[in-house]
Amino acid sequence: MPRSSVTFVCGQCGGETLRWAGQCPYCQAWNTLQEFVVKKEPGRRKPESRSGRGATSGSSSAAPVPVTQISADSAPRLRLAWGELNRVLGGGIVPGSLVLVGGEPGVGKSTLLMHAAHQVVSAGGTKVLYVSGEESNQQVQMRAARLGALDGGILLMAETDLDTICDTIASEAPQLAIVDSIQTVADGAVTGSAGSVSQVRESAARLMRLAKETGVPIFLVGHVTKEGAIAGPRVLEHIVDTVLYLEGDRRQELRLLRAMKNRFGSAEEIGVFAMAEHGLEEVPDPSAAMLSQAGTASAGTAVVVVMEGTRPLLIEIQSLVNKANTNFPPRRVANGFDLNRVHMLLAVLDRRGKTPLGQHDVFVNVAGGIRITEPAADLGLALSIAGNQRNQPLPEGLVVLGELGLAGEVRRVGQTERRLQEAARHGFTRALIPSGSRTGRPAGLEIIEVRTLAEAISALFPNHIHSGAFIEEAGVTVS
Ligand code: TYD
Ligand code: MG
Repeated sequence: MPRSSVTFVCGQCGGETLRWAGQCPYCQAWNTLQEFVVKKEPGRRKPESRSGRGATSGSSSAAPVPVTQISADSAPRLRLAWGELNRVLGGGIVPGSLVLVGGEPGVGKSTLLMHAAHQVVSAGGTKVLYVSGEESNQQVQMRAARLGALDGGILLMAETDLDTICDTIASEAPQLAIVDSIQTVADGAVTGSAGSVSQVRESAARLMRLAKETGVPIFLVGHVTKEGAIAGPRVLEHIVDTVLYLEGDRRQELRLLRAMKNRFGSAEEIGVFAMAEHGLEEVPDPSAAMLSQAGTASAGTAVVVVMEGTRPLLIEIQSLVNKANTNFPPRRVANGFDLNRVHMLLAVLDRRGKTPLGQHDVFVNVAGGIRITEPAADLGLALSIAGNQRNQPLPEGLVVLGELGLAGEVRRVGQTERRLQEAARHGFTRALIPSGSRTGRPAGLEIIEVRTLAEAISALFPNHIHSGAFIEEAGVTVS
């Protein structure tokens, strides 16, 4: 007889406790713990029932093996036509892997996976199974037609029952299986309706075992809301091999596919796509796409180079500084930037950059719906704010690199050379960088080195002083 015991799982962070509490002890969220019945297999001494999650197919032996004697010839990855997708997956789809594709409703998850299905069959695959629990076969077919992905190798199934889905994957043995979405799938033997923490967790764990046993890679779609409120992706992150998030503003065309976790590759990579009339297109040169959206040089814009994984990206930052209504505290709004970081930079600008902002509203926006998390963009953001406050544009063709410290010092950033090369490749002619950066000078790029925010501001906004004389005075080296 299987015994069952009860645990409580947080719908937000996936943390698990044995007792119910009003507040999750891991992430401190309130009212997120939900009851979860765990069925225990009676035969715990049987090694098969305990075979680990990471075990490879067929290796049922639980005896330890020397690490040198594991055969290294892993099955080849399935490479897709889109380099952007391969990059995020760490070089293609790994056989037997379970990949979660999360994102807000309507961002384009189903579209992306239909493209992937089509690319697998076009590349010589025989079958891809697309299980949809959200849409009818007709709806999925209409999307496929719109994408130009009508191919007899793509098998559609509108199904939500986990047993049926697992049986079909096992019997059809496709090159790739897609379950859209995990929130619609339910196992009749588990308590809770589809989409509940218990169902989502149990279904994902079953599909994980199935993927490992059969070697069929399985992609799961998971919806998240802005608050991460729906039980699902957060809980699933612990179970699956790879977590990809599709981000982007639905009203804009750029979409970023970001690896958050990857057991088979870097978890830093992003892939860039654009949503168009006929579905998604890959964007192999995102800097160009990002800059093509840039407005004409105006006071308050600055271009920075951030590293997304191994790839430098040129991104335009805009800010607007406006006199605040004296009846209210000044407003600070940041789009694509961490607001706390913006507050810190405003304080540094005030104290170290002769840019008083206490009576001003400040709005910051990153073009293209990108989120910047790298401190290397600090100086660029600070100068964009300083420029708008002074109503002076930055010099044409300038990129800015540098992290800002609380003392107003400009800190060096990693991979300066690669960033500068990217800037030069896109026709930039000047770069403001931290002094002492050990880097080569790409041809055609004038390098201005600065030690502090004050130096940078003096160099770029010389006011009434003749710029050449002032640059020398401020100790700025121009090379
Ligand atoms: P979808 O893949 O259904 O989103 P998700 O599965 O993440 O909920 O994509 C939905 C949006 O994409 C929808 O608003 C319309 C847009 N779209 C296009 O602009 N062009 C297209 O060719 C397709 C298929 C969708
Ligand atoms: Mg969908």
